[in-house]
Amino acid sequence: MSETTSVIDVCIAGTGSYVPERILTNAELAARVDTSDEWIVTRTGIRERRIAADGEFTSHMASKAAKRALEQAGLAPEDIELIIVATITPDTPTPATACYVQQQLGAVRAVAFDISAACSGFLYAMKISKRLISDGAFTNALIIGAEKLSTVTNWEDRSTCVLFGDGAGAAVLRRSEPGEGSIVATEMGTDGSLTGLLSIPGGGSACPITGSNINEHLHTLNMQGKEVFKVAVNRMREAAEKVIARAGWKPEDIACIIPHQANLRIIDAIADRLAVPNDRVFVNLDKYGNTSAAAVAIALDEANRTGAFKRGDHIVLVVFGAGLTWAAAAVRW
Ligand code: ACO
Repeated sequence: MSETTSVIDVCIAGTGSYVPERILTNAELAARVDTSDEWIVTRTGIRERRIAADGEFTSHMASKAAKRALEQAGLAPEDIELIIVATITPDTPTPATACYVQQQLGAVRAVAFDISAACSGFLYAMKISKRLISDGAFTNALIIGAEKLSTVTNWEDRSTCVLFGDGAGAAVLRRSEPGEGSIVATEMGTDGSLTGLLSIPGGGSACPITGSNINEHLHTLNMQGKEVFKVAVNRMREAAEKVIARAGWKPEDIACIIPHQANLRIIDAIADRLAVPNDRVFVNLDKYGNTSAAAVAIALDEANRTGAFKRGDHIVLVVFGAGLTWAAAAVRW
């Protein structure tokens, strides 16, 4: 599913992020399960991740990231008409985490709902909001990727527990004025035949968690990492290539690629296939691990605030996650 043109251009007017204070290092994990800092760094690039406090929910992290994005955009909560939270770890199955965020921010005019597209959720939310703004339905939107993956991690499974972390990232989208940036092209895709490669099998209507099955860890993330890895590289490359081509750009025109932060080897493979030098690819997974829907949003905010690109630059965001799902966006900043 793709789009290149719209009546009203939409820009990213502000970004924000938040990660919890608690740092969990590879060395600490190596004391719990049969792993090592060397294995984790070599196979993934991850050195540490953040873990939310017990009373700190997905909505709390989302609201903190959102406040920073609003501040940068120069907008008040009452200016926001749409809030979309992308998450696989909502505060509650219902109501949506976006409703808690609306209340926490005081964004009283906003329509609020969640989407579930795992690591791809933030870019799914970007495309949905862009379309709703460019169609004239809304003027200002807040999109947020937020996760408390520590609650759905099997801390006894070394093949997954070393990968995930908690955090939130947000962006304010609004109609762009002449001379401002715009979301130039977007791409989304899904392959439902591969649902089994990466899932939380329990806790839904197919397999409610009961007293007797709770010890089977059905409520935690299960992943066939090697198979996911291969599909991730191909789909992310294809999605990025599509938005770059639709935007009419060449690899040398791109100032910064901001990929999903799951594995440094995946990121390196994509940079290589897109012929974009590694110093133009933003990486922060060493500090936060894979925070699913939050990952690309946190990376976008850090890249923005550390000057990885400037006004007028061409940037490409590209993601991949459970579903399997993938998405990309070409943005003129
Ligand atoms: N420490 C030490 N050894 C380990 C660990 C660990 N933490 N985990 C696995 N191993 C062992 C395995 O048991 C295996 O041992 P064996 O050869 O004796 O059987 C060996 O290391 C190799 O295991 P692989 O799974 O083949 O390792 P691989 O190189 O594929 O790396 C990883 C695993 C990091 C998970 C990688 O496959 C990956 O990153 N996959 C993609 C993840 C991803 O992108 N997910 C998408 C988004 S997530 C979301 O949507 C929520």
